[in-house]
Amino acid sequence: MSLSTTVETPNVTYEQPLGLFINNEFVKGVEGKTFETINPTNEKVICSVHEATEKDIDVAVKAARTAFEGAWHDVTPSERGRMLTKLADLFERDIETLAAIEAIDNGKAITLGKSDVTNAAGCLRYYGGWADKIVGQTIDQNNQTLSYTRHEPVGVCGQIIPWNFPILMWAWKIGPAIAAGNTVIIKTAEQTPLSGLYAAKLIVEAGFPPGVINIVSGFGRTAGAAISSHMDIDKVAFTGSTLVGRMILQAAAKSNLKKVTLELGGKSPNIVFDDADIDNAISWANFGIFYNHGQCCCAGSRLLVQEGIYDKFVARFKERAAKNQLGNPFESSTFQGPQVSQLQFDRIMEYINHGKNEGATVALGGERHGTEGYFIQPTIFTDVTSEMKIAQEEIFGPVIVVQKFKDEAEAIKIGNDSTYGLAAGVHTKNVNTAIRVSNAIKAGTVWINNYNLLSYQAPFGGFKSSGIGRELGSYALENYTQIKTVHYRLGDALFG
Ligand code: NAI
Ligand code: MG
Repeated sequence: MSLSTTVETPNVTYEQPLGLFINNEFVKGVEGKTFETINPTNEKVICSVHEATEKDIDVAVKAARTAFEGAWHDVTPSERGRMLTKLADLFERDIETLAAIEAIDNGKAITLGKSDVTNAAGCLRYYGGWADKIVGQTIDQNNQTLSYTRHEPVGVCGQIIPWNFPILMWAWKIGPAIAAGNTVIIKTAEQTPLSGLYAAKLIVEAGFPPGVINIVSGFGRTAGAAISSHMDIDKVAFTGSTLVGRMILQAAAKSNLKKVTLELGGKSPNIVFDDADIDNAISWANFGIFYNHGQCCCAGSRLLVQEGIYDKFVARFKERAAKNQLGNPFESSTFQGPQVSQLQFDRIMEYINHGKNEGATVALGGERHGTEGYFIQPTIFTDVTSEMKIAQEEIFGPVIVVQKFKDEAEAIKIGNDSTYGLAAGVHTKNVNTAIRVSNAIKAGTVWINNYNLLSYQAPFGGFKSSGIGRELGSYALENYTQIKTVHYRLGDALFG
């Protein structure tokens, strides 16, 4: 199979690289394997890409190690920053192509795809700005000693990303790792390999030396597992399911104790008090769950509504959700495209059927939309109790469960009744309620009178089983640096 092909989308026709990107070149896998990627809107094959197996991970690690010890080591922090900002410019130049790739490969609505590319560019530029501002401390002990710290790169980083935000997760991972002076091997999700490979071309154009950023397409159980258990990878960063997160932590423990950061699932409560601005809260509740077709780790998938407004709120929320435009991702008016794959579609439909059998009420949706593509109607369940599976497990689709609460204490209790702790929302006009509840909820992010608005300048990550470490902001740099203390003795020998 060749190393590139022409892909036609309704918006753009472009040349798609298909190889593994190692040492700034597109190559075939050592074992010569390939796999297909599907367009979830019509369930047809877009193209096949070359597949990385364990042997390719070894090749990529050697390339990344050689670059880390050699050419990359000699690049100044400012030069690293300029490469990242150049890469950001190239993302903006090619926004139409990158967004079209997300729409065809992931099914993402084109307007959301463009906003992902804009945010990916913003993230890369933000970390480009950080590259020459990563500084240590000087520590005063006594007149005889100069002690200082260096924030050194960790080394070769393995990064495993999911399919829900293919190009955005790529940027979230690469930005801080590269700013801090590491080299990387990034494995894209098997459902969505195309945008990451297209962006590989931009890496060459931005001037990165060979081996600094390597991009492989492949499956979790083979390529992903090889990364997490590799003896010469110094750090692994993962975004995906909690199940796989646990496996990665174990693989790291059993191999070389590589540093691990995990960004995992959630079942986040979005809490609406009686005194909230109802129109505003409905709008954020809708965006909170149905944004990105519900395939969002921080989705506000549990809506908790206070009893005084419950009936009115649910009625109006149903009306609002019913207006969400479902359909062809390439239509600019589309808000919700298909789910990413047959497997995800089946998983979500299984949860919906489970909810029906558990005795919850389908207030809206609950069925497949159309006959072609993995579309699911926006679905609202009412009469839900905390013990129900649909209230406890991450569904990762356009499905929300609504629960009623009496007072603030009960809202906090239900809100925290989860093994997850990724995010939460609080809607109220009372500042004291907002602050008290946001302090009491065990979650890494709390939105007050909004939801799902992320910024690459602010940290993101989970409490409890939602993860380890923080991405974005200056906090992400902590995961990609290790601190060295240096004691320089100025005076005479202490013991003669
Ligand atoms: P997954 O966790 O299996 O896949 C995410 C990434 O991990 C992919 O790149 C995959 O190839 C890789 N992977 C899979 N098994 C691996 C292993 N043994 N070792 C190393 N890497 C491995 O998630 P999947 O199956 O795509 O989705 C299942 C559920 O996970 C979703 O329904 C959702 O609940 C959750 N999820 C959460 C995401 C988040 O943003 N936190 C993103 C994607 C999925
Ligand atoms: Mg695909």
